[in-house]
Amino acid sequence: EKGGYEHFMLKEIFEQPKSVHDTMRGRLLVDEGVIKMAGIWDHVERFKNANRIIIIACGTSWHAGLIGEYLIEEYARIPVEVEYASEFRYRNPIITDKDVVIAISQSGETADTMAALKLAKEKGAFIYGICNVVDSSIARITDAGSYTHAGPEIGVASTKAFTAQLTILTLIAFKLGKHNGNLGNAEFMSLIAELDALPKKIEEVLNTTHELTQNIAKDFVKATNFLYLGRGYNYPAALEGALKLKEISYIHAEGYPAAEMKHGPIALIDENMPIVIIAPKKGHYDKIVSNVQEIKARKGKIIAVVNKGDRQVSEMADYVIEIPETSECFSPIVASVPLQLLAYYIAVYRGANVDQPRNLAKSVTVE
Ligand code: F6R
Repeated sequence: EKGGYEHFMLKEIFEQPKSVHDTMRGRLLVDEGVIKMAGIWDHVERFKNANRIIIIACGTSWHAGLIGEYLIEEYARIPVEVEYASEFRYRNPIITDKDVVIAISQSGETADTMAALKLAKEKGAFIYGICNVVDSSIARITDAGSYTHAGPEIGVASTKAFTAQLTILTLIAFKLGKHNGNLGNAEFMSLIAELDALPKKIEEVLNTTHELTQNIAKDFVKATNFLYLGRGYNYPAALEGALKLKEISYIHAEGYPAAEMKHGPIALIDENMPIVIIAPKKGHYDKIVSNVQEIKARKGKIIAVVNKGDRQVSEMADYVIEIPETSECFSPIVASVPLQLLAYYIAVYRGANVDQPRNLAKSVTVE
């Protein structure tokens, strides 16, 4: 059932070209220039007239939510807030019937997310679900929703569910933006063509980084700390990269927005600190270059995720992982793949049980 892979996690990482494709299938109709999502379309006025969208989730799904904020605000120009379900539900949040609440949950059973949704529903908000498990509790309580079609995710560390969640959020942002006129037709058409080509790019990244990430991983088996940095869309991707590493390898890792480094974490940097920096061409590249210079000056070990043909960051990096160029909004999907592989191999070489990390359960049904 692991399809020849040593662990479910590796199998699921490799399934991503298919899971992203399956999540778009029947929804993204490139030739017709249409995104079909009944859950959105049937309630499009609720979205259009929403005061704001509040995304609630936990863990990896919360990271997807943060990227959803960048997507929906950029393309649909609707204000978005992203909250941990556990914080939202206990802080007497202001919710009205003009709010739309989107819950993101792979399992559809996470207790805090479920409770937060119930609260939002009581206060009259329209509640929307992005779940992977069909007919799960969250899928049933929501007014409408879109399933991620990632297929069953067995590894406790979420991988293909995450990129499928990003795919749905991208579709929602583009669909709402097109509908409310914030996303012009020409840009819409070019973005959806690029979205359609993403599974191929993920495939390419798997092929070109699989061996490379194994080799890099070998050098960091004894590491005790890691920093992950990114800006813009790739700031949440950095958070997710760090979470993957810590939960399966038990190495302490932190994700940060790259510019925040100088407000504290830079004090940690010396020759023993590995730093993964996500630095694609599109997205504050020049700013990232200066962040990398600051790290280099302090002798941090730099693992850079860059676009093919990159020079400036690559010349300063100790390890270079190349990914194909995409529009900025798609880069977290492509950049996450080698970070999943890197975390996976570091954990495997440390002898950890990657599919079932200690103290963790696949769905957290207690608060
Ligand atoms: C991390 C991970 C967890 C889950 C979190 C939410 O790899 O799997 O952080 O993302 O427990 O779970 P769902 O999405 O099922 O609500």
